[in-house]
Formats: sequence, structure tokens, C-alpha cells
Amino acid sequence: MGWDRDVGVAFARAWAREPRSLTGWEVTAATGIRGLRLLGETGAFSTFTFTEANDAAFAVLSANVEGRAGALAVHTDARDPPAPGSFDYVDLDPYGSPLPFLAGALRATRTGGILAVTATDLSVLAGAQPAATERRYGAVPVRGRLGPEGGLRILLMSLAVEARRTDRAVRPLLAYVRGHYVRAYVGVCPPTEGPDPIGSIETDRWTGPPLGAGSHHGPFWLGSLGDRGLAARMVPPPGASAPAEVARFLDRYREELTVPQPFYYEPNSLAHRLGLVRPPAVEPLRRALVDAGFRAVRTHVRPEGLRTDAPRSEVDRVARSIGGADQSQNARVRA
Ligand SMILES: C[S@@+](CC[C@H](N)C(=O)[O-])C[C@H]1O[C@@H](n2cnc3c(N)ncnc32)[C@H](O)[C@@H]1O
Repeated sequence: MGWDRDVGVAFARAWAREPRSLTGWEVTAATGIRGLRLLGETGAFSTFTFTEANDAAFAVLSANVEGRAGALAVHTDARDPPAPGSFDYVDLDPYGSPLPFLAGALRATRTGGILAVTATDLSVLAGAQPAATERRYGAVPVRGRLGPEGGLRILLMSLAVEARRTDRAVRPLLAYVRGHYVRAYVGVCPPTEGPDPIGSIETDRWTGPPLGAGSHHGPFWLGSLGDRGLAARMVPPPGASAPAEVARFLDRYREELTVPQPFYYEPNSLAHRLGLVRPPAVEPLRRALVDAGFRAVRTHVRPEGLRTDAPRSEVDRVARSIGGADQSQNARVRA
């Protein structure tokens, strides 16, 4: 998770304005490495509290925080927050689902502060166990290749719903899919006016990428996954363990935020659905969509993924025009 903590340090350095002014809480701290890096590498925190329930992990945590100015380790069940409403930055990185800790973590984040949340229960969030997704998150997931982005949007929806319980709202500043987990940094703010970013997708009215079987998916967070201004200020931190990888991710992520449409197309799925013998190459497909007057960018979620504001009918038309000569015998027979 070194890369992930690098991104966390880059995020906090870009977000924090005043030196040594913030208070932080790492909810499920294990060794404390995540919060200790934030404390040591950002210069933004005056104090950082670490909670850990496991005896062996707490012993390591205690040793790690010893002598670190501003660091406080507490041996406790983190579902009981150490103090209500008192932290500028709360980091929740448990095993599996964050839901058992979410209400407490949100209550402990001051309005104007940040809550960062990891969920590793991707088998549930990304659709492999749809009954569990409905039970746990109250949402119908997307199965298959778009499942992880669906899971990220279900997590964001859960954060927004939980914030509403305390008459507040969340604003995603940086939310991403990575390997076996999803992670979101949200600003906790007063309730906002304007269109509701939470919604379900009814497949018969949906003109974006096909979401697979089922007539109804969600509810999801359907708004932007991040903040362009903040992403523009993020750079790999000097102590990064994987600086080149962080830089590559940030470049792609910044570009991706220019097209906030949910979900993306992939050449293989397009070719399969349209009956093309060969998938259209992703870069020519992107350029053709841009030439046709749409926005189209690569996504951080999958190397071949293309996020676009073009309706599906246009994506299909452009994909056919690139791969038209390659239509398979079966597709010609069907046509
Ligand atoms: C995924 S690890 C944390 C990793 C850490 N955030 C990092 O970046 O290295 C999850 C930790 O949560 C702890 N934990 C699980 N349930 C807890 C609870 N109810 N209260 C406090 N800690 C808990 C586990 O003992 C484990 O050390």
C-alpha cells in the first residue's frame, strides 16, 4: 500500500493551507504508518490520534509513535470515536467494509474537514455478491468489468447518505479504483443546493455504457469523482515510495476529471456487443469521438477504458466506422 499512502500524502499537501494547523485521526491504525507519514511528510498536522483494537498491532503502534511530537496512540475499539466532532482529517482504512465505522468517523469529522475511506469488500461492492450489496449498502451493484467503478460510486453514495443524517453533505475530492479496493477522499460540508448527485440508473433510459443484466442499478453517486483544482495541485511527495507511478496516475486522473460522465467503454466489450472481428484500437477511437465533437478521455480504472460524453449510439457508430470493414460473418448475417 506504499503507493496508496504516497497519494494520501500528496493529497494532504495539496489540501492543507496553514502549516501545523490540522488535527488528524487514523481510525484503524495498525502500525500507524499512514498517519505517521501524514504527520511527518506534510507539515500540516499539529496532532494525530491513532486508534487500534488489536493487542499485537497496538504494541507496534505504541512503539512507532513514541517520541513523535503530536502523535497519540489509543488502545480502543474505534467504533467509539475518541472525541466527537473534533478532527480536521479522519482516515478510515479497515479490513473489508468501512460501514461499521462510518457513522462515528463522519461524526468526528468537523464540517469543512476531510474524511478518507477505503473499502476492500470489492466482491460485495463490485457485484459478485449482489444480495450482500443490497443488504449491506442498500444498492444494486454493477456486475463484470464496470463493477469496481460501480462499487466506488456505491461507496460515495453511502458517505453522502450518512452525511445527510447529520444534516451535512460530502464533496468527492479524489476517489479512485485500485486493484482490490476503492478509496475516496471527501470534503464534509454544509448541505448543498442544486441537483441531487445520487441516483439510480434505469437501463431502458440509460444512454451510457451498458451495465449488464438487470433493469435497475444503484443508487450511485453520479457526480464527479474528484476536484480538478485540487488534483491540479497534487504532485508526488519527496518521500514517495513510487513517485513515477503516482505521477502517471495523477496525469491520467487529471485528464479524466474533464469528463465527469459515469462509467466507460472498452474496445473488447464494444467489439463483442457490435459483432466486430477486431476491437477498435483505443486511441483512434478516442480521436474519432473528439473529431465528432465529443469529449473522450482515458480512465485510471482500466488501461483500455474510454470515458466520454458521447451517447452510446454515437460511440457505436464511431466504433463501427473504425472497425466497419471488420464486421464478422455473424454480424453481417444478423444485419
Ligand atoms: C487494514 S488495517 C489498517 C492499515 C493502516 N491504515 C495502514 O495504512 O497501514 C486495519 C486495522 O484495523 C484494526 N481494527 C479492526 N477492527 C477494529 C476496531 N473495531 N477498532 C480499532 N481497530 C480495529 C485491525 O486490527 C487492523 O490493524
